[in-house]
Amino acid sequence: MSKKLIVAIDGPSGSGKSTSAKIIAQKLGYLYIDTGAMYRAITFLAIKDDIMDHPKAIVKAAEESDIKLKYLNGATQVFVNGDDITEYLRTHELNEKVSMVSQIAGVRKALVKKQQMMKLEGEGIVMEGRDIGTVVFPDADVKIFLTAGLDERASRRAKEYEKKGKGVPVHKIKSNLSMRDAIDSTRDANPLIKADDAIEVDSSKISIEQQVEIIFQQVKKAAKSKGIKILS
Ligand code: DC
Repeated sequence: MSKKLIVAIDGPSGSGKSTSAKIIAQKLGYLYIDTGAMYRAITFLAIKDDIMDHPKAIVKAAEESDIKLKYLNGATQVFVNGDDITEYLRTHELNEKVSMVSQIAGVRKALVKKQQMMKLEGEGIVMEGRDIGTVVFPDADVKIFLTAGLDERASRRAKEYEKKGKGVPVHKIKSNLSMRDAIDSTRDANPLIKADDAIEVDSSKISIEQQVEIIFQQVKKAAKSKGIKILS
């Protein structure tokens, strides 16, 4: 079976990771994995089971839960132990708590293991998150670190909420994003940092098309240097 690429896209919330990762995966015909959805799924369980103050119980939930991600019509659907919990994962309460859950070392260990197992032999994968190029797949063929200014990221999120018919004030989004940035980048376990060999792309002032094009050029370069055939 011919070798395929591992593409890792990391960066803070609202940097455009999901949009670019989905398009790149589609262009390549590769599996797309949104690892943030997995941290959100465990946070959902922690809230539902009222164990937010019990890290050991949260770790147990991360280790024992069967998390399945299905990508359908442009969106990730999340199943935990067979139940579709997708609609509960992007609430304000969950956004407030997900960074607390994702800084627990045992949770990260359990989810990183599951993420590594999602890469099937002979399959290409585009995985997005915070620690994909540093911890999950340190040998990834392409590593992108996507950034954007806080104002730009907050205004993108506000537009997303508007599209869903939910008006969330930009200042609230901004304070949530900066709180999550701070926790995600300073936690002890697998903080959000750029891998030494990642290519940094600042998406603040470029269009989605330009962003995708920059990433795709890196994918092409990696494929060429490794003698791997890719679509398009
Ligand atoms: O990408 P997102 O906003 O859906 O991620 C939700 C949270 O999960 C984010 O605040 C940080 C955490 N996360 C993480 O710590 N590591 C990952 N690989 C992905 C997400």
